[in-house]
Amino acid sequence: MAGCVLAIDQGTTSSRAIVFGEDFQPVSVGQQEFPQHFPKSGWVEHSPSDIWTSTLRVCREAMENAPGNGADVAAIGITNQRETTLVWDRKTGEPVYNAIVWQDRRTADFCARLRAEGLEAKFTAKTGLLLDPYFSGTKIAWILDNVDGVRARAERGELAFGTVDSWLIWHLTEGEVHATDATNASRTLIYNIHDNAWDAELCELLKIPMSLLPVVKDSADDFGVAKADLFGRELPILGVAGDQQAATVGQACFEPGMVKSTYGTGCFALMNTGAKPVASANRMLTTIAYRLNGETTYALEGSIFVAGAAVQWLRDGVGLIENAADSQALAEQADPNQDVYLVPAFVGLGAPYWDADARGAMFGLTRNTGPKEIVRSVLQSVGYQTSDLISAMQSDWPDAHSPVLRVDGGMTASDWTMQFLSDILGAPVDRPTVAETTALGAAWLAGSRAGIWPGQKEFSAKWKLEKRFEPHLDQDRREQLLAGWKDAVRRTRSSLD
Ligand code: G3P
Repeated sequence: MAGCVLAIDQGTTSSRAIVFGEDFQPVSVGQQEFPQHFPKSGWVEHSPSDIWTSTLRVCREAMENAPGNGADVAAIGITNQRETTLVWDRKTGEPVYNAIVWQDRRTADFCARLRAEGLEAKFTAKTGLLLDPYFSGTKIAWILDNVDGVRARAERGELAFGTVDSWLIWHLTEGEVHATDATNASRTLIYNIHDNAWDAELCELLKIPMSLLPVVKDSADDFGVAKADLFGRELPILGVAGDQQAATVGQACFEPGMVKSTYGTGCFALMNTGAKPVASANRMLTTIAYRLNGETTYALEGSIFVAGAAVQWLRDGVGLIENAADSQALAEQADPNQDVYLVPAFVGLGAPYWDADARGAMFGLTRNTGPKEIVRSVLQSVGYQTSDLISAMQSDWPDAHSPVLRVDGGMTASDWTMQFLSDILGAPVDRPTVAETTALGAAWLAGSRAGIWPGQKEFSAKWKLEKRFEPHLDQDRREQLLAGWKDAVRRTRSSLD
């Protein structure tokens, strides 16, 4: 059997497809951005058909550009923006509403009501998550309660819910398979991560009929077959994982204590905690890192909503830079005597603060502050936020030895940002040679399941370091900077506690 895998990476702002060769290197890529819809303040939607058609287009592009028109591709792996919620008609495939994107805050009041009823501890104990609009559960409830006729149709068993992976599987198999994997299920707020099953009590609390829910499979499993009319021949779908979990796999963080952090739109740090779900005392999430051969590996996760998006804001919002790459040169020239802080709470604050109502703020501005200092504060905000996550994880899980952080995603191209990250963490930061770790993770899940790629050990041994950043910052200065950041966050919170 030939040894290539087609990895689909359906992200928040673009759909990508990459064909990986036997040596785990990308051989061809397709990429397409698609429109974001903001119907009201705090609302973020995608058109379900944009998600599918852009995915199909980039897959075809990657296949056509691969040697022999992708003749060596033996399997498909899918990774996706997580939590984003779709509901569609099982017969016609018609969505009943747009996809409600993970960033969408419309259910903040509903979450606050559930918290006021004292329900957060129950949700956390079962799902490892918090009552925040980020997760799918309250988004499903919103669709059922706000789109005409939808609740009745759901109760008659006519509708299907899915995260983006399920939506793509449904289309690739032309409506034959309604499935998801354990990692995506673990982000819905209705999946019990200890029993590995949908939770009837939580569904009842959110009034979600269980007939809506997909079958939950391992991350390397049989998800059906992409139909021949799509790519000229049938292709089995053998790997599925949410994008941050796929990056954990792609970074070969298979041992307890290993941590990766991905810098895309947001920043998501996951620490492998092995077979043990570690409950957080610091408002980190407990989540499924992957489920292989029925065995679940858990992770602690810190989710930050704005990382690369803050650089985009510098470029498109305030126009201080023309290209993202310009930010590093400006930061390098910033005045070392000015400590300017940006708290990029543009859509609230994620972990460990979970403050949906906070909004962004800058501190420490003087008459001397100019674009360079502002740009530097944006790059530094990513380091400070990561530092919040890593220290919360370390206090949650004292078994975690002093971590080396494996990084990936667009922002890691900036040496300046990675050096600051290492300095502020006081720990080494490792950047691998393969930048496409998320897609690679999905490809490995599918390739290993297909039996054409090696198992975990050999795959881990192939992980290669491109550059290690060692911390150089003096301890006193580090503590001073961190104290300034904590103060800036405190002043940004919607209510001071
Ligand atoms: O939880 C949201 C995350 O999966 C989104 O990732 O890379 O599409 O911004 P990304």
